[in-house]
Amino acid sequence: MALSVRELHPGFAAEVLDLALAQPLPDATVAELQDAMDRHGVLVFRGQHLDDHSQIAFARRFGPPERYVLSYRPGIKLRLGQPEMVDVSNLDATTGQPQDRNARHRMVNLGNRLWHTDSSFKQVRGALSMLYAHAVPPEGGETEFGDCRTAYDRLPASVKQQIEGLEAEHSLMHSRATLGFTDFSPEERAALPPAVHKLVSVNPRTGRKSVYVASHASHVLGMPIAEGRLLIADLIEAATRPDLVYRHAWRVGDLVVWDNRRTLHRGMPFDESYPRDLRRVTTSDVAFPWVTSPT
Ligand code: OGA
Ligand code: MN
Repeated sequence: MALSVRELHPGFAAEVLDLALAQPLPDATVAELQDAMDRHGVLVFRGQHLDDHSQIAFARRFGPPERYVLSYRPGIKLRLGQPEMVDVSNLDATTGQPQDRNARHRMVNLGNRLWHTDSSFKQVRGALSMLYAHAVPPEGGETEFGDCRTAYDRLPASVKQQIEGLEAEHSLMHSRATLGFTDFSPEERAALPPAVHKLVSVNPRTGRKSVYVASHASHVLGMPIAEGRLLIADLIEAATRPDLVYRHAWRVGDLVVWDNRRTLHRGMPFDESYPRDLRRVTTSDVAFPWVTSPT
């Protein structure tokens, strides 16, 4: 079956039409979707009917879903039952209503407003993130995506040469610290040590290169801190110029899938007295296809 695909932004992001993801998909369709991911970087599926289990099952076709470490803080009640599911909502786990302004879960999630890529702070990076909308506010709360592949293509040859082989250190604590949030326990810090990744990432399936940076990147190895931070800021800027950005306006039933190795994203502000219930599963960066383990 050939996928029906409509481009949403020149050279970046596409909508896949007429495909219901709640049912198990044939291997051939999964392979076509992986090809489409490699081509477009971001795929949008509208009008879906997913629950947490079917969302996780869909993700599992592409790679092993990450399991969440931060959530296991003693005394913190989780709203969602599955360790594979990240609660990106503004909802309180006990009341189900919009959370307090100073809620810890809100503080951690406010970091999503910075340009970033998911789980760059892990040794095995995040690969595909799949974010599904159960409730959305009447306005605002969009998610923006930047194309790190075209950003790389457009770099001057001298910069391409400069960054080839360079590595940056990434840490979740770094991106949160830039917002003044440092309330992490020693156990959380130990569970999420920094990770080092190359500034240039290559898609092994296509050979295409992209810049790999994020708000989690604190410095470039072998460079004075300030110089490395400026380089990281320049690369983030290059990948988020307005003509490289697709802005997704959410509707209930949207599933958006993005490749964290080749895109940046950030959440936009909204009136937080309205519920915004988005839930995410992220796969780990292993070669595709991978052998699905029995669940
Ligand atoms: C995420 C994320 C942004 C948003 O789920 O990884 O960054 O718009 N979300 O909620
Ligand atoms: Mn994110």
